Amino acid sequence: MSKTIIVSNRLPLQLSIEDGKVSSEPSVGGLATGLKSVHRDSNGLWIGWTGLTVEETPQELESDIEDAVQNQQCAAVELTQSDMDGFYYGFSNRTIWPLYHYFMEYAEFDSENWEIYKSVNQKFADVVLENLEEGDNVWVHDYQLMLLPQLIKEKRPDVSIGFFLHIPFPSYEVFRTLPWRDQILKGLLGADLLGFHTYDYERHFLSSVSRILGHEVSFNEITYKDRHIKVDSFPMGIDYEKFHAFAKANYEQTDKTQSELQRRLDLHATATPDAKMILSIDRLDYTKGIANRLRAFEHFLEKYPDYTEKVRLVMLAVPSRSNVPQYQVLKKEIDELVGRINGKFSTVSWTPVWYFYRSMPFNNLIDLYTSCDVALITPIRDGMNLVAKEYIATRIDRTGVLILSEMAGASKEMNEALLINPNDINLIADTIKEALEMPEEEQKKRNKYMQKRLERYNVEKWAGDFMTKLDSVKSTQSVAKATYLN
Ligand code: ADP
Ligand code: G6P
Repeated sequence: MSKTIIVSNRLPLQLSIEDGKVSSEPSVGGLATGLKSVHRDSNGLWIGWTGLTVEETPQELESDIEDAVQNQQCAAVELTQSDMDGFYYGFSNRTIWPLYHYFMEYAEFDSENWEIYKSVNQKFADVVLENLEEGDNVWVHDYQLMLLPQLIKEKRPDVSIGFFLHIPFPSYEVFRTLPWRDQILKGLLGADLLGFHTYDYERHFLSSVSRILGHEVSFNEITYKDRHIKVDSFPMGIDYEKFHAFAKANYEQTDKTQSELQRRLDLHATATPDAKMILSIDRLDYTKGIANRLRAFEHFLEKYPDYTEKVRLVMLAVPSRSNVPQYQVLKKEIDELVGRINGKFSTVSWTPVWYFYRSMPFNNLIDLYTSCDVALITPIRDGMNLVAKEYIATRIDRTGVLILSEMAGASKEMNEALLINPNDINLIADTIKEALEMPEEEQKKRNKYMQKRLERYNVEKWAGDFMTKLDSVKSTQSVAKATYLN
């Protein structure tokens, strides 16, 4: 029976060694959380990195690691510390990530890292080729693996290959600054179908292909050698049912089984019944606009002093890529901003910012989504932003206000949110006030539309649409080939 092989740098599970034993945690980030439900419901295989380098893997635990990986229908690509330094911390997260998010001043162009990026993509290709059987489809994900489609296509031209980019594709003017732009585009064009979150990213990609490689591009089709490659936008959805069902259970729960976090959130609500909570959740990343968000909250408290003791920002930042210098600088900046705001405005009974710097289990995430009156999501650039969608999905009584950056891909589908420019601190401060004062009826009206859309275009539909399109590309290619041979 043919299967779909998902390939991404990170597997849905993140392994570590604790007290001489293998411990497994779910991976954080839109790619892993989104694809997890697609993979769970299929008979496919997911190929990727476990979170442990070869050096960190004790020989006596190798079979436990293999079991943990196989139990989740996954296969591991073994990477060394030097692979991780050059490929992950290096080329992926010091070159491509900043460049594609328009942080050009952060992008480093280091040819050693590029060489390691190439060799690690080859390692992924080797594992895919080992596991590939007749009739299988391969679905490659994200910016860490942009050479993989070509590496597979060269060895197995018969296989259908899809590629989906989870981050923005930048405009041609930005992309062309990359010294390895030709190789990256050729790598991607090994795929038969390329997917992006939005039409804008798709357009930028097509423009780069035609201007850099000079290939013929018509509408959303690229003619490359004798191949016809399709390009389309597929805005990623969430597992709406799962978020909604957990939130519903939480809503109906009696306090005996509540989590410690939920008890604290409830305590806050009882002690200050007219106070409101604003939620902020992201990986700690400079693209997410966390510092601007804090500055805007500070400005809000200054501009609207009546809100003293009446509002709290609950901020969850998940540690991410902490070996990359810009992430370390950002961590320090956030710590200082939180300290400054709390120092300036706190009273005996009130701390304006509750800051958590850690990952949290899923039920705590639901506690936060369901307890906060406003979600404040202000990325400077974001491919999609699933947190915005998850927040709306968990609002069982349809109250709650989403403030969302125009620079997040999600804003294209969430027009009923209060959309802001993340660089406009004054506008964000005023929008916080507008959100806190929005009548309930208005909140419900807006959320109803968004919930309906999220329920309809969920992650299953997203993956289904992509795979259906990939099948149709393949059959068009076969028909074209047959006609040519006749
Ligand atoms: P990105 O992919 O850039 O990290 P997204 O907003 O698209 O941003 O996706 C983040 C994903 O990570 C969401 O699905 C969210 O549920 C999950 N997540 C965020 N914070 C946590 C956390 N503390 N613990 C577990 N999962 C988290
Ligand atoms: C974003 C990227 C993913 C990545 C995730 C978490 O969602 O698009 O590819 O997995 O962030 O980042 P990390 O570096 O921890 O894998």
